Amino acid sequence: MKINVLFTPIIADELYFTGKTTVVIDVLRASTSIVAALQNGAKEIVPVATVEFAVKVSGGMFGGQTLLCGERNSKKIEGFALGNSPLEYSQEIVAGKSIILFTTNGTKAIVKAKFSSALFICSFTNISALAKQLAMRDKDIEIQCAGNQNNFSLEDTVCAGKLISELEKINCELYLSDSAKAALVLSKSLGKNMHKMLSETEHGKMLLENGFAEDINYCGKLNISSSVPYLTGNVIKLFPEIDPSLSDIKENIKS
Ligand code: MLT
Repeated sequence: MKINVLFTPIIADELYFTGKTTVVIDVLRASTSIVAALQNGAKEIVPVATVEFAVKVSGGMFGGQTLLCGERNSKKIEGFALGNSPLEYSQEIVAGKSIILFTTNGTKAIVKAKFSSALFICSFTNISALAKQLAMRDKDIEIQCAGNQNNFSLEDTVCAGKLISELEKINCELYLSDSAKAALVLSKSLGKNMHKMLSETEHGKMLLENGFAEDINYCGKLNISSSVPYLTGNVIKLFPEIDPSLSDIKENIKS
């Protein structure tokens, strides 16, 4: 299994992902929120790349069962039901709901990689569950770090390294690109104290300044979820709620 890590979303264009197995990571906080929402019973997440499109999509959906969610500068957008804190996505609030989600970096990175043949969402909270699915699938992987405003982000790269480490642990035969090797080295040196690492990143500091200390704690928890979110059509669902377009994945699960 070959693994490559794309440190920022500007390294590859949309067509690069065609036919690939992609993992998108935005630890602070979109991918952690997506994992939490699906774990807590959300029906699906609709990732969107602009606020305008989020509002348009929500207008066409059945009101009571839809939540319009997202952030700008890490704060809830005016008029939206929820922001982008994973702690907001509790069972009481999201169970059975379709969530339309806009975030500055995370959902844009997901939408950009939409031509992937399979696209999974990773956070520290679901690394182990996702690694098992990827190992069963046994396909080459592109790990897309969402980064921060098209810049490198340490927390996404450390998470990518931890995912690679987990795949090593379950004895996958890995061929790592230079960027994948770098992510692995960074995760080994910085991934021991997750809270410290997250608190000292640029995005982490910004979240702390804006009163989101609890989110830093939550986003640094390793493997508290068995959720494996994947993109099917234009929505993110909990794997393996298989649909026919993912028949190749189904075959891999069986064998
Ligand atoms: C993003 O997608 O940029 C983030 O998740 C931003 C945030 O909520 O802090």
